[in-house]
Amino acid sequence: MTVPAPLLRLEDVEVTYRRPDGVAVRAVRRASLDVNAGEVVGLVGESGCGKSSLGRAAVGLERLTAGSVSFQGQPVTALGRHPRPAALRRLQLLFQDPYSSLNPRRKVGHQLADGLRASGEAATPARIEELLDLVAMPSSAADHYPHEFSGGQRQRLAIGRALAARPLVLIADEPVSALDASAQATIVTLLGELRDETGIGILFISHDLGVVRQIAQKVAVMYLGKIVEIGAIDAVWRRPCHPYTEALIAAAPLADGAGRLPAGLAGEVPDPSAPPSGCSFHPRCPLADAECTAVDPPPLRIDDDHVADDRAGNDRAGNDRADDDHVARCLFALRPAPSTARDTDREMSP
Ligand SMILES: Nc1ncnc2c1ncn2[C@@H]1O[C@H](COP(=O)(O)OP(=O)(O)OP(=O)(O)O)[C@@H](O)[C@H]1O
Ligand code: SF4
Ligand SMILES: [Mg+2]
Repeated sequence: MTVPAPLLRLEDVEVTYRRPDGVAVRAVRRASLDVNAGEVVGLVGESGCGKSSLGRAAVGLERLTAGSVSFQGQPVTALGRHPRPAALRRLQLLFQDPYSSLNPRRKVGHQLADGLRASGEAATPARIEELLDLVAMPSSAADHYPHEFSGGQRQRLAIGRALAARPLVLIADEPVSALDASAQATIVTLLGELRDETGIGILFISHDLGVVRQIAQKVAVMYLGKIVEIGAIDAVWRRPCHPYTEALIAAAPLADGAGRLPAGLAGEVPDPSAPPSGCSFHPRCPLADAECTAVDPPPLRIDDDHVADDRAGNDRAGNDRADDDHVARCLFALRPAPSTARDTDREMSP
């Protein structure tokens, strides 16, 4: 059976910033992931681990130092000051703060019309009403300014603005982090419904694995610029194979604010301009041994039926990506399932 090509593919992506003092910050290090049609991929990790840098690189807002991004098979290159090419219009970015997507000085209807025209579509009242309906807002919203709405409603309007381009993939960078619990739930439900109804693919960036669990089919866990574990959300939740993922899962039911450390995890995220040797996680890892300070763990494919200790036979994951592979970068990823692994009894409360 031929597997359809992913809509969005990131391969070995690197993003390096140059600080004013000339020091290089490797914000994203050899990160690879795919987003398919009708799939929500969660991207999680603590503050500063490189989630936004990866998201921005995915839509051409950040220059790649290495690696590649493609959308519908076409290369996505940094836009600079150039207008967005037509081929990339169906790849849209949604920000945490809806004001980054909405102009506070223009009425909602005008902004939706702008979005339609920018995509080459006629801005008819019927189409504007349709967009508002898609995000569960009344047609009367068109005559109001963004500040007249609550934070959750503004985020719905920002989603409507993004939908004007009929996106195939939406990169949503912390779209619910600034909202209260009830508005969070509404937006998560809305994005899930949009996925079901339109078949859109979503890269859902969040520091909260609990929220990701509610919406994503796949999850990528980032630490200090690297994806340290990726796989189907149920498989990762049931059997986290990287100690960092375990810590995030342990923290999930707590209302952890952005940038706060997961419960039970010591220390802080190291400076990405000087990452620790070997496994970058070793200064904080409860399982670290001497080898961890020297060896950068290769990606290991996890086989749920296979709890073996032979690393050599399982180091092929990076070369042969199947869509639903469960892969972890820990020297001991194939150890017997940890006692803290979460079973179905640890379902998220709504
Ligand atoms: N323009 C920049 N110049 C230099 N360093 C930067 C720049 N933008 C981001 N960084 C650094 O790159 C790293 C990754 O930042 P990024 O914003 O991608 O993380 P994040 O996971 O999105 O964090 P948060 O959860 O706080 O949004 C951080 O150490 C950050 O300080
Ligand atoms: S390789 Fe070592 S330090 Fe890194 S996550 Fe695994 S056990 Fe911890
Ligand atoms: Mg961010």
